[in-house]
Amino acid sequence: MRHVLLAWLFCIATAAGTIGGRVPPGKTPKGFVSTKGSAFNLDGKPFYFVGANSYWLPLLTEQRDIEATFKEMKAAGIKVLRTWGFNAINATELPYAKENDLTYYQVWDKGGWKLNDGPQGLKRLDNVIETAGKYGIKVLLAFTNNWIGYGGSELYVNWIAGSGALHDSFYSDKRIVASYQKYVKTIVDRYKHSENIFAWELMNEARCRGDLQGGPGCVAGTDLISHWYKDQAAFVRKLDPHHLITTGGEGHFYKRNEDIGYWYNGQWVSDYNYNGQAGEDFDLDLTLDDIDFGTYHIYPQYWYGSTLDTPNNENFTIGNWGLSWIQDHADSAKKANKPVILEEFGVSGIQNKTEIYPRWVKHALDTNHGILPWQFGMLGLKENGGNKLFKYEDRLVDGASPNDGFAIYKNQTEIWNIFTDAAKVQNAKSK
Ligand SMILES: *[C@@H]1O[C@H](CO)[C@@H](O)[C@H](O)[C@H]1NC(C)=O
Ligand SMILES: *[C@@H]1O[C@H](CO)[C@@H](O)[C@H](O)[C@H]1NC(C)=O
Ligand SMILES: *[C@@H]1O[C@H](CO)[C@@H](O)[C@H](O)[C@H]1NC(C)=O
Ligand SMILES: *[C@@H]1O[C@H](CO)[C@@H](O)[C@H](O)[C@H]1NC(C)=O
Repeated sequence: MRHVLLAWLFCIATAAGTIGGRVPPGKTPKGFVSTKGSAFNLDGKPFYFVGANSYWLPLLTEQRDIEATFKEMKAAGIKVLRTWGFNAINATELPYAKENDLTYYQVWDKGGWKLNDGPQGLKRLDNVIETAGKYGIKVLLAFTNNWIGYGGSELYVNWIAGSGALHDSFYSDKRIVASYQKYVKTIVDRYKHSENIFAWELMNEARCRGDLQGGPGCVAGTDLISHWYKDQAAFVRKLDPHHLITTGGEGHFYKRNEDIGYWYNGQWVSDYNYNGQAGEDFDLDLTLDDIDFGTYHIYPQYWYGSTLDTPNNENFTIGNWGLSWIQDHADSAKKANKPVILEEFGVSGIQNKTEIYPRWVKHALDTNHGILPWQFGMLGLKENGGNKLFKYEDRLVDGASPNDGFAIYKNQTEIWNIFTDAAKVQNAKSK
């Protein structure tokens, strides 16, 4: 009897997640994605995919547009949709949001967040997640944003820590962390039983600085973001032991003993993407128990500007830089024995896209990545006659989804086909 009781107690302790919080593979519910070494796994089969980034899907209000978008994604072979699980505004924006039927999930009013789980709020996200399932697509959902867009971390900083507070107080101010966790719990509790969720993402593009400046508490070596990832991932794991958890980061490195950089105008420039200044440490973050897979992004034109493509430096071109960034993350993931996804990437210009994407995508396929270009483009949307303002200058123009210069529409056949071809390769590998 005693013997049995002890065994039972041991089981409870294990189920509560004390062994690093990792879920034994056998326990994953049907239809939930898990990991097996460096591969994703779905119902006993490897799961490789091409996915779509579309933050604007939950902003749509007409079901025929939402269905049409998912139908297009499905036809393109897409299996994962990445979208925002946040949309916060402040009270001054509320009248405009109401008048224009803009989606919002929380509003900062009179010293606190008010949740909007009604038809103009989380019901829209419910609908996107439910509709995704109808088309065999799983959703990767981010809890907040490093940037101001759609009411990310800056709104928490401004309202809770006060104006003048630094960006990185988001990671260290206990009141802000509690406020973030309260919202995270709302979202996780809402969807934790859904097999339509692919994974949770702690934050889009966490950095020491955002639209606000960072401070001395978040610099190379303080590991502030790594600690935040560790704590938040553990928090989510406790709420939901079965869905995967990832960072949502850009994949910056902190290679402590290597001075990785480049020569520019006769000067050695230490590389922000490798020297820890950004705040992440991809190698370290991927070893955290409750971080199940890695994410990273690629925007060399925006990160290096005119320092790229300088003469006599064949490897410091947009195309080649991206290839080595992909390889660096593949190596790190191999070492950690976890999967990795190339979660966003973009270059400007049709010609650049046509030349560079096939090379990046091929290398990502060869190194077993999940692949999500930024961003899915949809034509023929009907909402408000095909012209609707969302927010922050995002709008539908003649029925085309918002274009920040990176949208990939079906009419751009050569670029579109890079991804539908890649999806065929991934889907064939998932058997
Ligand atoms: C409310 O939010 C908008 C958009 O993020 C911002 O421009 C404005 O400054 C905010 N208002 C206050 C009082 O913070
Ligand atoms: C560029 O990279 C290739 C392959 O790693 C290497 O062989 C070559 O020497 C590099 N060129 C320069 C200029 O660094
Ligand atoms: C293509 O990339 C080059 C190098 O970054 C850039 O100068 C050029 O403006 C890009 N083309 C377009 C159309 O954006
Ligand atoms: C594709 O559609 C977009 C959005 O309507 C438009 O801007 C672009 O000119 C079209 N491209 C081609 C090649 O037709």
